[in-house]
Amino acid sequence: MVRTVIRGVGGYVPERVVTNKDLEKLMDTSDEWIRERTGIQERRWVTTQQNHELGLEASRVALSRAGIGPQDVDLILYATLSMEYTFPGSGVLLQDKLGCRTIGALDIRNQCSGFLYGLAVADGMIRSGLYRNVLLVGSEVHSTRIDLSTLGRDVAVLFGDGAGAVVLGPGEDDSKGLLSVHLHCEGKHHDLLWIEGHGSLFPHAEQVRVIQERRHLPQMDGRQVFVHAVRRMPEVLQEALQANGLSIQDIDLLLPHQANLRINQKVAATLGIPESKVVNNIQKYGNTTAATIPLCLWNALDEGRVHDGSLLAMVAFGSGFTWASALYRW
Ligand code: ACO
Repeated sequence: MVRTVIRGVGGYVPERVVTNKDLEKLMDTSDEWIRERTGIQERRWVTTQQNHELGLEASRVALSRAGIGPQDVDLILYATLSMEYTFPGSGVLLQDKLGCRTIGALDIRNQCSGFLYGLAVADGMIRSGLYRNVLLVGSEVHSTRIDLSTLGRDVAVLFGDGAGAVVLGPGEDDSKGLLSVHLHCEGKHHDLLWIEGHGSLFPHAEQVRVIQERRHLPQMDGRQVFVHAVRRMPEVLQEALQANGLSIQDIDLLLPHQANLRINQKVAATLGIPESKVVNNIQKYGNTTAATIPLCLWNALDEGRVHDGSLLAMVAFGSGFTWASALYRW
C-alpha cells in the first residue's frame, strides 16, 4: 500500500517580537495574566508582510529540504482563516510568488484544524495517484485583524502570525508515512468562535453598522472553547490509535494545536502522555492557528526530537467547531 510521506518541512515567523509587556502598553492586560492563563510569553507580528508571503518563506524551506523546486509542485493546499481577500484565496497568490506552474491551488477553511484537514485531502489525492508533490501550507496573519484596545483583549493576547509548510508525496513502502487522519465537526457551535460580519449574510449596505457593532472582529466564548477542546482532542486521538491498533505508550511525540498551554497540559494529562513527549511553541509564537502544527513539526525537527521510526501524533481543535487527529510514522 502506498502511504503519503512528508518529504520536507519548513517554518517561518516574522522578525517582529511582541512581548506581553508590549501589549500592556496597548490595553489593560498584564504579563502575569497572559502567562498564567495561556502560557504565552511573546508572539510574532508582521510589519508589512502578507499572509502568502509568510507561506512563501515556509514553502521555500520545505521545498529545499525536499530537494525539489517550485516547478515540481503538482498541487498547492493552503490552510488559513486570515487570507488577504475574501476572494480569491491565498493559494493562488502563493502559486504566483513561488513560481509554480499553473497548477491547482485549493484553499482550506478549517481554522485551527486546517492543517490536518489539508493533510487528509493531500493523502487522498496522493494515494489515488492523482498528484505526486503536494505542497501543504498553514499560514496566518492575525495581527492586522485584532482589536488592540482593552475591548478586544480576550482575543488579542492569544494570537500570533506565522507559517508552516510541508511537501507531501507517495512513499516507497508502507512501513513509514501517514497512518491515518480523522476529521470531525459540530457546526451547532459555529458562533462560539467566529468572525461573523464578513460573509454574505451582511449586505454591502449594512457594513458600516456591522463595523460599529464590532461584528467584523473575532469573537470567542473562551471557556466553552476550552471545555470542548479538552474533551475532543483526547477523544479523536484515541480514535486514531484504536483505528491503527496502537496505544498511548506507542506515541513518541505529541504535536497538538497551540490555543492555550493549559489545554495541551490537560490533554496530555488526560491521556497520560508525559510533558517530555509534547511539543509546544505557544510560549514564543502564540496561537498561529493553521500554522501551529507544521511549526511544531519544524521546531521538533530542528531540536532533534524526531527520529527514524518515531510515531508522531497530531491533534487539533478550533472554530467550527472542527477537530482532527493524524498519526504519522517518521
Ligand atoms: N488581560 C487581562 N484580563 C483579561 C484578559 C486579558 N487579556 N482577557 C480577559 N480578561 C479578564 C476578563 O474580562 C475576566 O474578567 P472578569 O472576571 O472581571 O469578568 C477575567 O479576565 C477572566 O476571564 P475569562 O474569560 O473567564 O478567563 P479564562 O480563565 O476563561 O481564560 C482564555 C480565558 C485564556 C481565553 C481561555 O478561556 C482560553 O484559552 N480558551 C480557549 C481559547 C481558544 O482555544 N481559542 C481558540 C482560538 S483558535 C481558532 O480556532 C481560531
